[in-house]
Amino acid sequence: MDEEPVTMLIIDQDGASRNYLAAMLGKKGYSVLTAASGREGMILAWKLIPRIIIADPALPDIQAEELISRLRQDRRTATVPCIALSGRSDLLEMNRLLSAGFNEYLVKSNQTLSDLVTLIPRLFVTGPETKKGGLLFVFLSAKGGTGTSSLCANIGMCVGKTNSTKSVAVIDMVLPIGSIANIVGYTDHMNIVTASAQNPNQTTPLYFKDNLPKVPAWYFQLLAGSPNPETANQVAVGRMTEVIAAIQEAYDYVFVDLGRSLSRISLPIIQQADLLALILSTDVSAVTLTRTVWDYLLAQRVDAQRVYPILNRAVGLEGMTKAEADEMLGLQIRATMPYMGGNFTLANNRHEPVADKFPGDSATFMLLQAASQMSEQGQRLRNR
Ligand SMILES: Nc1ncnc2c1ncn2[C@@H]1O[C@H](COP(=O)(O)OP(=O)(O)OP(=O)(O)O)[C@@H](O)[C@H]1O
Ligand SMILES: [Mg+2]
Repeated sequence: MDEEPVTMLIIDQDGASRNYLAAMLGKKGYSVLTAASGREGMILAWKLIPRIIIADPALPDIQAEELISRLRQDRRTATVPCIALSGRSDLLEMNRLLSAGFNEYLVKSNQTLSDLVTLIPRLFVTGPETKKGGLLFVFLSAKGGTGTSSLCANIGMCVGKTNSTKSVAVIDMVLPIGSIANIVGYTDHMNIVTASAQNPNQTTPLYFKDNLPKVPAWYFQLLAGSPNPETANQVAVGRMTEVIAAIQEAYDYVFVDLGRSLSRISLPIIQQADLLALILSTDVSAVTLTRTVWDYLLAQRVDAQRVYPILNRAVGLEGMTKAEADEMLGLQIRATMPYMGGNFTLANNRHEPVADKFPGDSATFMLLQAASQMSEQGQRLRNR
């Protein structure tokens, strides 16, 4: 790489912590400036305008709130991403500093370095003002077998069918085995393994526009998942965010099935999403697990307005009501899918979309409604 290194400023009164981080981030290719106090930090920041500021909020001379508000008030540093890197895991401090203007709050740990390395590139690309390309709808569940893949494919189909001038892509990222190819009846070779193995300058938006296979009857183009666990090991996971961004540039709507994955790879994709479809079934354990996942995502600063919870009665008529699930989840369920008995599985086994196989069914009504609400809400959040 012959690009200029990204300059960052570390403000930390603790010499050992400051020097360690500076040395480690220096090794990662960043050009690092350091300061031991708030005032020293501000002076350096205004003089050299780093691309990123990382500050331990325990400063010897000024309050962290004062530091951030002065940086935000100055034209030179008003938009520089600032990370509070605190020695304390303190929810109150976190809320205070985030509302004062810090972009992120991280707690120091032995994972700090890898946390920062994942977080920093994202700070340059996220935020509603920088979202670009097609709308990104990410499907996630906390428990297996809740209908995530079926709903991702079927809602994707409804968006494609009802917006005939728009293009839709579906990406199956579930490891170790994707299931959308199976649902839609796709058997060819192109999938996330083959796509992510290609040379990065090959996988352009135009490449995906021209090469993602069209699936007859489904109104979308598919980047299929890994066909088996052995192949899954070859997925160049580090390239997935970039592949998704390229596909977003080429399509109006991009649906991603993440399954149950909550990892360092999937988290940036969730944070990048225009909408997160959180799929839960009606049993207590699914709702409890979903609540845990949601609490975690909330702490990762996923915006509740971007979450679209879908209650899927995949397991029968018993279980919680929507009101009970709302209450337990702490989020408003936006769509409820009725139990379809064996019909959903029948449609899947025949590779037919539910909306075409059972056009008069209330499930079809719900799928179409979810498709239109998600499009509308995603677009509205883009425009705000
Ligand atoms: N509303 C429903 N009514 C009846 N059956 C359903 C419903 N939703 C999903 N199913 C069935 O439940 C099964 C699991 O669905 P699916 O594979 O989409 O779930 P998943 O959450 O993606 O599972 P996994 O954790 O394996 O990825 C399928 O057989 C599907 O046909
Ligand atoms: Mg699945």
